[in-house]
Amino acid sequence: DTDPPRPLRPWEVRASDAISLKLVGTQGESDTFHPEFTYPVFGMDEVIYGYRSVNIKLYHSTASLFTYVNVTYGETVSGNTSEPNREPDDVISLLQAKLPPDVTQDYAVFLDRVKRDDTEFVPFGTKFDEYALGEADVTYELYSASFASPGFLEFHRRLQVFLLWYIEGASYLEENDERWEMVLLYERRGPRYAFIGYVTYYPFFYYTPEECNRRRVRISQVLILPPYQHRGHGARLYQHLYKYFLSQPHLVQITVEDPNEAFHNLRDRCDLAYLIRDGANGDLRLPVAADTIKAVGEKYKLSKRQAERCVEMFLLRAIE
Ligand code: ACO
Repeated sequence: DTDPPRPLRPWEVRASDAISLKLVGTQGESDTFHPEFTYPVFGMDEVIYGYRSVNIKLYHSTASLFTYVNVTYGETVSGNTSEPNREPDDVISLLQAKLPPDVTQDYAVFLDRVKRDDTEFVPFGTKFDEYALGEADVTYELYSASFASPGFLEFHRRLQVFLLWYIEGASYLEENDERWEMVLLYERRGPRYAFIGYVTYYPFFYYTPEECNRRRVRISQVLILPPYQHRGHGARLYQHLYKYFLSQPHLVQITVEDPNEAFHNLRDRCDLAYLIRDGANGDLRLPVAADTIKAVGEKYKLSKRQAERCVEMFLLRAIE
């Protein structure tokens, strides 16, 4: 549970209220949504000082995430005798420290890019899977990419600000490290793409006396953009990634870095469903031997702790 935000003082505006995010395409735009966390940009109190009101528009083209920023404000504290020693926060500079270098403040330039994205944008990396949710002419496509994928770096610089807005404690990835891998999820309608979300993960060596070529992966960040949440995309993204990991012979274990409750739940649900579909029933009954947990971990590439959770959930579901 998080503490409620502290009450606002004079000349303060709550940063998450001030920021309006939107995804814009030629066929329409999302409803406005707001960041969950703003402390990486505006400090621990998550307020903007020095204004009676501030409106920050941050609009992203649905495909390339090309970004438009616009800041408007009402009366400022400057010259106000009650607060003589402080200037208003420099909102644009604070934002620019975290936004990509190619952000525009010109709405016509932004709209032009939105239009061009329709015909020019193709996803980065390599397509490795897709799914449908029963809507006519819509598919959801998964691409694997790394910083070595041509053009991906610029796209990633536009994307990463969403990590700050939505994942507590998130920080930007080291761009020079080409070992980072990502799976990007796109909605495809005819020739048009819209970015939905992504996962980052990092491979590590997993040495054993017998084998030195094995890898463990650590899922680091998982994000579905708010307009697409609660439609099953997070679960699909995880399931397809898991299927891909299972198919890699040298990859022996999947771990998750610092999962929050929402992702923990999602993962538990998906792992359990997989075990059930895979017919783990026959082998799992009480009392559970330590070797059984070990075998489940090895077969399904789970850490000991996640294997224990799955076995426990599996057995508990049989209780009326
Ligand atoms: N209609 C209504 N509800 C639905 C539908 C539907 N069609 N489909 C799924 N749901 C429900 C699910 O049952 C689930 O409910 P629950 O939370 O009560 O269990 C909920 O929606 C979420 O499931 P999904 O839709 O599969 O997941 P979503 O696409 O919303 O993605 C995620 C989940 C990744 C946590 C997303 O909310 C997100 O990006 N949040 C912000 C960032 C974040 O917290 N990331 C994880 C950090 S931890 C880490 O990175 C390792």
